[in-house]
Amino acid sequence: MGFNRKDLLGTRDLSVVEIRSLLESAESFKEIAERPLKKVPALRGKTVVNLFFEPSTRTRTSFEIAAKRLSADAVNMSASTSSVVKGESLIDTVENIQAMAPDIVVIRHGYVGAAHLVAGRIGASVVNAGDGANEHPTQALLDLLTIAEHKKLEPGLTVAIIGDIAHSRVARSNIWALITLGITVRVCAPPTMLPRGLENIAGIQVCRRPEEALAGADVVMMLRIQLERQDRLLFPSIRDYARIFGLNRRRLDLACPDAIVMHPGPMNRGVEITSEVADGERAVILNQVSNGVALRMAVLFMLGGQGT
Ligand code: CP
Repeated sequence: MGFNRKDLLGTRDLSVVEIRSLLESAESFKEIAERPLKKVPALRGKTVVNLFFEPSTRTRTSFEIAAKRLSADAVNMSASTSSVVKGESLIDTVENIQAMAPDIVVIRHGYVGAAHLVAGRIGASVVNAGDGANEHPTQALLDLLTIAEHKKLEPGLTVAIIGDIAHSRVARSNIWALITLGITVRVCAPPTMLPRGLENIAGIQVCRRPEEALAGADVVMMLRIQLERQDRLLFPSIRDYARIFGLNRRRLDLACPDAIVMHPGPMNRGVEITSEVADGERAVILNQVSNGVALRMAVLFMLGGQGT
């Protein structure tokens, strides 16, 4: 097995072997979704706790489905229905969860480093389901799984990531994983939504205009503006943002004729992407969601299967 860690906290320090091993495992789990009985006994007797301190539709649901398809017991806890609202700290919360002997804790939290902090305090395996604007490793891995359905995941491929790069954990995790695989990454955002220093990282091209990022790109990944992580609007108006940075049919024509269009969700239709493109024949956005289940099954299996 090429992935032998206690936790999955980010893609930044994953090796090529680890990434490919997780993707290979996810590939083998895909067909379970096609079966009449969508269940295998791989994690029978194991307990997975989903601890979400921020809202989620896709990630939380797919981790729960993934755990159940592996026959693990899945427990969901959100901050709003927990004793966090009574003032309990993150550390006290997770130490109490640990006292109930879970095998894997999946955590989403608004603070950068929250998953790392928890991983250092509890014996259960920890999966980072998003920590502030830092990382969202399972999203990047499911994105790679989706790209691999259409393109060769190898040097020569160009992925354009357009949107609020500065506040996007999805962008960060994708960037680290893609450059590890030797894939060229173009990033494009208004200067106020672009982290400084990206241009100094080998494998990353910073583009000022979406037209430049899109020209000949094989994969187009659009990101929403993360208003929840901004204390003021970083662009004169949403309308101007949509006009200058939004992906429409005309702009998409600049990419390769067989380019695929991705979005991690949630989408703001009419802002970063038009409905025509989001629902068009080149969009693989719902495939990303389907692949999220298989990829998360692979992650839970790799973490929870150890020592069985
Ligand atoms: N892509 C993603 O993380 O979506 P959710 O916030 O709905 O989980």
